[in-house]
Parts: sequence; structure tokens; C-alpha cells
Amino acid sequence: MDEIVRLCKHRGFIFPSAEIYGGFRSTYDYGPLGVLMLRNVKNAWWRSMVQLRQDVVGLDAAILSGPRIWEASGHLTNFTDPLVDCRNCKERWRADHLEPDPKDGAIHCPNCGSTDLTEARAFNLMFKTHAGPVEDEGSVAYLRPETAQGHFVNFLNVLQTSRKKPPFGIAQIGKSFRNEITPGNFVFRTREFEQMELEYFVPPQDAPKWFEYWCEERLNWYVDLGIPLDQLRLRAHDQEELSHYSAGTSDVEFMFPWGWGELEGIANRTDFDLKAHAAHSGERLEFYDQATSERYVPYVIEPAAGATRTMMAFLLAAYDEDEIGGEKRTVLRLHPRIAPYQVAILPLSRKDTLIPTAQEVLGLLQPIAMCDYDETQSIGKRYRRQDEIGTPLAVTIDFDSLEDRAVTIRERDTTEQVRVPIDKLVEEVTGRLAL
Ligand code: GAP
Repeated sequence: MDEIVRLCKHRGFIFPSAEIYGGFRSTYDYGPLGVLMLRNVKNAWWRSMVQLRQDVVGLDAAILSGPRIWEASGHLTNFTDPLVDCRNCKERWRADHLEPDPKDGAIHCPNCGSTDLTEARAFNLMFKTHAGPVEDEGSVAYLRPETAQGHFVNFLNVLQTSRKKPPFGIAQIGKSFRNEITPGNFVFRTREFEQMELEYFVPPQDAPKWFEYWCEERLNWYVDLGIPLDQLRLRAHDQEELSHYSAGTSDVEFMFPWGWGELEGIANRTDFDLKAHAAHSGERLEFYDQATSERYVPYVIEPAAGATRTMMAFLLAAYDEDEIGGEKRTVLRLHPRIAPYQVAILPLSRKDTLIPTAQEVLGLLQPIAMCDYDETQSIGKRYRRQDEIGTPLAVTIDFDSLEDRAVTIRERDTTEQVRVPIDKLVEEVTGRLAL
């Protein structure tokens, strides 16, 4: 974990936010490599959930919303954590995260050890603000704590404009905000994060079948993108663990350095949300099946993943150290679709004679892949840097390239090198990346 945090800072994946002011409350900024990788994670999800399917359409709903949505969804009442304060050191803790001491059975403050803690009280995790110039009850607004309600309040809009019918889904990627009491473990739990959520509307009787389907699909997505199956598991929630809207939830969990942790929850939300919004808004949120003249409220199966948390899992799973020619190296064995750069373009030297050919190669590859052009330092050091940031292929332009119009492709994982004619390069790189 320490190595990943160090690498993220050192190579420009993730920086603590507002670092020059001492940081800001567990918020993070995504640097030049992080923004590429996070975008790749989201694109890979979108590709699998929208692009490669006929039954899912996209949505990008507002982050700011009024209280009526959250009254209807139950979040104003139920989206709470039990909170205790330490009267001695004034630290605040989640009551359900504190274990009694096996020696005396008392609950101690993890910071100062005091047992002088307040009673637990419900703390709502939503960020509250005001929309407009007047800060009164009428202008109260919330930052969404999940992207999900945007799907439900747009159910009719999407149904009417997309001409889909159940089973069909609405996919959305975007920021969510929760005033977490104990953020931590780097970007695992933060107050501002990104989610990738699908709400899949099905005939009620088919909900169990689709729940199983999505559990399997989603587990396979992580495996296909390179997380070994033995570092993943599906875990069904106990009854008392279920969210207020769920009739059944299974989590896709990843083996983080501190143990199993959730990457994604797949929930059977039943007709809870559509019925709740119908009751609060007065709109009929139903599907009318013209073929059978049947009218019903669909059930919803929801695979809800975290983009930022998933990016961290990809980094942890990809991190490796090995030895090449007696020299230790760090390598991120990232899937080409997830790696920040797919190709590094490396002229052997900074000599003017090589640059036009190197630029020509860059021009050929940029339209098909994200390329890093680097002419600094020795070639060995540049290979190490590319290994450490997970670039699957490096293309080296040397002095022979000027004579034979060929370049060398080096594979990150095997360090194997092959010579390829420049006029076959696009085909060769496309084949090797298999994007
Ligand atoms: N709409 C359902 C929903 O939001 P959730 O299990 O609370 O369900 C879904 O959140 C996913 O969002 C989680 O599995 C996790 O990956 C991510 N997530 C939730 N809270 C987070 C936080 N504070 N920081 C980072 N990611 C978070």
C-alpha cells in the first residue's frame, strides 16, 4: 500500500488535494497519469455496459438536487451512520467500527484510549448547501450521495425517448459526495468520489434471474481487465447489513492490503424507488406493455461500482517487482485498456537526425493509442519509467531506423524486443494491444 501511495505521488497519478496548504480533509487530485487511468476505467465500464449492449442507454444527471428527491428516496431519514464523540480528545468515530476491549469489555477511543465517549447519534452523510442567493429553508439543496436517483427521476423521460422496454438499463458515471466520518485508506473511502452505476429495469418476476446475471457479469469485468480471480470474491449481505431499499445485495470484493473490501454492490432494489418517487411526485412511473396490455412497476437490479476505488484496486493488483538482467524493477502490469499510456515513443538519443522519424512514428500512433513521447535520460532509465507507470509497449527509434525504416517494439511484461518496419507499425501495435 505504501509503495502504491508513493508511486502515485511520485509519478503523477494521485496527489493529496491542496497540498501546498497542508491538504484538505482526505480529498485527492488526479494528476497527468491518474486522469488518463481514471478515464480509462470509466471508459472500460461504459464500453462493457453501454457500447457493447443493445439494452442500455446512458444518462448524465445533475449533481445538485432539492430535498424532495432525497425525502422520496429515504436518504434524508435513512442515510446515516451512528456517530460517537470522544469527550477527552474530541475525535469523532463511527460507533459500529469500535470494538469492545477484550480485557475490560469497554469501548476505548482509538486515538487517546479514553472511555469517555458520548452516546451514539445518527449522523446524515449528505452534504447540504443552498441554491441561490438566500440561505433559508426554501433554498436547501444537496450534493447527491449516489448517482442513482437521477436514473429514477428520469425513468419516464428515458422510456419515452429511447423506446426501450424492460429488461433495459440506464447507465451513469459521475461524482457523488458523502460526508464520511472516517475517510481513509488512500482513495478507498473519500468524501468526494466517482461512481459507475447501472439501474436495470426488469419485469418483477424476472428480478432473481437478472440479479444472478449481473453478479456474474460484473465479477467477470474485473477479471477480464486483469485482476486475478483469487483476489476477488462475491459476498452476499446479511439481512441486517442490507440498505433500506434492498431485498438482496451481493458485493464484489477485492483483497486489499488490509483485507477484503467492497468494489461494487449489486442490489435488488425491487420497485422501492419508482414507487417512492411516484408517491412523492404524483407521476405514474410505470411501464405499459402494449403487447400484453399489462401495466406494471418494474423491479430494479443495480450494479453500483466506484470508479476511484476500482482504479486503486487495479493499481494494487498490477503492482509487481521483478529482476531484469540482475537489476530490480518495479512494473505495473496493467491491462492495455486501463494503462495511462498504451505506447511510449522513445528516440534512442536526442540527436536532431532521429527526431523527424520519431515524430513521424508519434503521428502514426497517436490516432490509435495514448502515446508518451520521451527523449530525456538514458534508454534504460526511460524503459524503467515506462514499466513503472504501466505502459505496455515502447517503440524505440535508433540510428538504423534512418537506414532500414524499421523500429524496435519492446513489451513491458516480457521485455522482449522485435524489429518492425514503420509501414507495418500501426497494424503490429493494434494487434499487440488488442484494445
Ligand atoms: N446506488 C447504490 C450505492 O451508492 P454503495 O454501495 O453505497 O451503493 C457503490 O456505493 C460503490 O461506490 C461502492 O461499492 C464503492 O465502490 C463506491 N463508494 C461508496 N462510497 C465511497 C466512498 N466514500 N469513497 C469511495 N468510493 C465509494
